[in-house]
Amino acid sequence: MVCKQCQEIEKMFDEENAIDDLESYHESGPNRSTRFLIEAIRSVGISGMTLLDIGGGIGAIQFELFEDDIRQSTTVEASSAYIQLGQKEAQRSGYGDRITYHHGDYTVLADEINATDIITLDRVICCYPDMDNLVDISSSKAAKLYGAVFPRDTWWLKIAGIIALPFFRLFTRSAFTFYVHSNQEIDSIIRGNGLRLLFSRVSGIWKIVLYTRQNA
Ligand SMILES: C[S@@+](CC[C@H](N)C(=O)[O-])C[C@H]1O[C@@H](n2cnc3c(N)ncnc32)[C@H](O)[C@@H]1O
Repeated sequence: MVCKQCQEIEKMFDEENAIDDLESYHESGPNRSTRFLIEAIRSVGISGMTLLDIGGGIGAIQFELFEDDIRQSTTVEASSAYIQLGQKEAQRSGYGDRITYHHGDYTVLADEINATDIITLDRVICCYPDMDNLVDISSSKAAKLYGAVFPRDTWWLKIAGIIALPFFRLFTRSAFTFYVHSNQEIDSIIRGNGLRLLFSRVSGIWKIVLYTRQNA
């Protein structure tokens, strides 16, 4: 992968982390903020819809939404370890033939990916430096629903991020960066692509949002 952060993503989201995430999912289901996003999507009624989960990790959102009869799902993941484990889990759960996997940076692959009814980015925007491009391309392609979880841009979280980053890099021996992007800019890009806010809440450091296409 070309971008520097994408190379760091490969190192950061490695097999060990993927196995930990899958074990945690088996033990206690999706994490709290992911659960809020899933519940908001479910409440709309999504039977028969298609899903694109960008940076889906081990695939918790897709596995949960298959319970609501979504028809088909696509994953675009920058980490090969997460793709491999997610694919194994999909086979094991019986969803293998209903999920298409693409490895890489979504902003680079977007032209190859068909538009879907639902697009989700759960804790992905904070991994990516070019938020404008990622949110603009993805939100323009959501036919019905667009859901995301990203860090709240409070002053204390920004300061905590600045203080923690050097220690985090030292500890993980990586150049991976965590971004607290402007929540207002994220909202304005999504609205600019014809979507309107349906649901919003906070959970700890996370903001969870769900938008719907105006004419959907
Ligand atoms: C913090 S993890 C979140 C995984 C999962 N969505 C969850 O909430 O458990 C962020 C994921 O986003 C992926 N990612 C980040 N930027 C991406 C991009 N531009 N295209 C595709 N995947 C990306 C990373 O590989 C990583 O698996």
